[in-house]
Amino acid sequence: MCGIVGYIGELDAKEILVKGLEKLEYRGYDSAGIALGNEVGLTVVKEKGRVADLRSAVDWTIHSTTGIGHTRWATHGVPNQTNAHPHQSTSNRFSLVHNGVIENYQQLQKEHLHDVQMNSDTDTEVIVQLVEKFTKGGMKTEIAFRHTLSLLQGSYAIAMLDADETDVIFIAKNKSPLLVGIGEHFNVVASDAMAMLQVTDQYVELHDKEVVILRKEAIEISTLDGVIIERTPYTAELDMSDIEKGTYPHFMLKEIEEQSGVVRKIIQKYEDEHGELTIDTDVLTAINEADRLYIIAAGTSYHAGLIGKHYFEKIAGIPVEVHISSEFGYNMPLLSDKPLFIFITQSGETADSRQVLVKIKALGYPSVTITNSPGSTLSREADHTLLLHAGPEIAVASTKAYTAQVAVLAIVAYVAAKERGETVVIDLKRELAIAANAIQTLVDSKAEMKQIAHEFLAVSRNAFLIGRNLDYYVSLEGALKVKEISYIQAEGFAGGELKHGTIALIEEGTPVFALVTQKTVSLNIRGNVKEVVARGANPCIISMEGLEEEGDCLVLPKVHALLTPLAAVIPMQLISYYAALYRGCDVDKPRNLAKSVTVE
Ligand code: G6P
Repeated sequence: MCGIVGYIGELDAKEILVKGLEKLEYRGYDSAGIALGNEVGLTVVKEKGRVADLRSAVDWTIHSTTGIGHTRWATHGVPNQTNAHPHQSTSNRFSLVHNGVIENYQQLQKEHLHDVQMNSDTDTEVIVQLVEKFTKGGMKTEIAFRHTLSLLQGSYAIAMLDADETDVIFIAKNKSPLLVGIGEHFNVVASDAMAMLQVTDQYVELHDKEVVILRKEAIEISTLDGVIIERTPYTAELDMSDIEKGTYPHFMLKEIEEQSGVVRKIIQKYEDEHGELTIDTDVLTAINEADRLYIIAAGTSYHAGLIGKHYFEKIAGIPVEVHISSEFGYNMPLLSDKPLFIFITQSGETADSRQVLVKIKALGYPSVTITNSPGSTLSREADHTLLLHAGPEIAVASTKAYTAQVAVLAIVAYVAAKERGETVVIDLKRELAIAANAIQTLVDSKAEMKQIAHEFLAVSRNAFLIGRNLDYYVSLEGALKVKEISYIQAEGFAGGELKHGTIALIEEGTPVFALVTQKTVSLNIRGNVKEVVARGANPCIISMEGLEEEGDCLVLPKVHALLTPLAAVIPMQLISYYAALYRGCDVDKPRNLAKSVTVE
């Protein structure tokens, strides 16, 4: 979702802020802006569109060593220059950037700001106008800032400048991620360490309802009521090369190609000193004490969760329910006596999932977060964390995090099964290594996927993906990839279900991708393909070695029946990627989407 940066120090702030925003742009990219402070006051530049548009609009002659910046994913108010951050108070004394949603902004506006002319349609402007209102009433800025925060309901990460005090950045956090970075003779603030890795790798995490008074040489963290907090910094274990594209044309292609390495790294990370797969014993105990697992996730992570259910039930004999997080919290099903909640989230920041975590914690239930982001909100707030070790994922469409989630879920189910004394028929470590090789083989033959994308999706209006058993779950994920980045209306279906309605949409030439990796249902799915072909569909069958037939579009290298999602998803990721290129779409930053959705 939106990104925040801020710098206070001795160097020129502009370049640091704009570079920081470029690193965060994948989180939201409909407008961007910066506010710079110096002895003359504040200068605000903001533009609709990308950070590149902001870069061209900045007056590079202004000298300033204090500034804040923002890249936006619109929630309240359309994406335009007026609604872009930073927002200013009427007198222009205060400039503020905000991530999150202020739920009571209309009420606050009515109660306190009825005499103030609002410039934008955003909830954010209310915050900056309130600060001005309270300072006009005689409060000092810090007091006015704290008083404003005490009135806000909802989520926020905020950085604010005061034209009368440009040696301070006022910072606050509640539910939206925000970090303070420490340097020599400078300090920074950012919604993600990635943004400021260019200047420091030392960070201090902030907790909800904390306020920071940030100066060049000092960081004062306190609670909203002013109790000072001491917190030790940590080193961000990110490598600049992890967050650069290098020679790749797009992050998505880079991340697709990294997947075999990611699976190998996961094997290594989840191995004990004897080379046996293992997981944290506390997590194992939590699983074994539960009578049912509840997997909670959104988007791609939800699709991985469906595969996780299959693993827990088939390998370990543990019953599992998988739920979409935005639904679960507001329509909770009857729970078992001893549930364990497993949150699957690449970013660890998805607000829809977090609201469930907050609710189940209040009910006293245990939780595990499986995430790619150590230190993220869902990781900190759950009882236990298992990491994906996929490295930063920058492209909005998730690829390597998905394969990592599938691999980690397989390991967790496998280790739990062994612990419970189940008869385990798979040598998982060996089979994961075979799957990693299969991924590599598929990536190496990407020219074939490019050809398939050209033939089936370059000009299609819609497409269907079908599969049965595990292939059904992969078809959901494949369809999501196609939708997200090529904007083709694509739907994933259980092969047998298509005929119960959706087959009405099949017309002459409609592309239908069919996944055939499951021996037990291979004849059934081939039967479903015949049904759509009889109605004019243009089929592309992606089968697995051993199950292939003449005329199949692509044959996947053989992997264990339980791990076929790791192989079958790769062509769909690549086909989506090339389809998006053929259609001239912005692969890494598809329209209307954001990488990390920190509002509900
Ligand atoms: C957003 C992203 C998706 C992602 C989903 C869940 O919608 O665009 O790619 O799958 O959030 O994100 P999470 O970080 O919780 O896995």
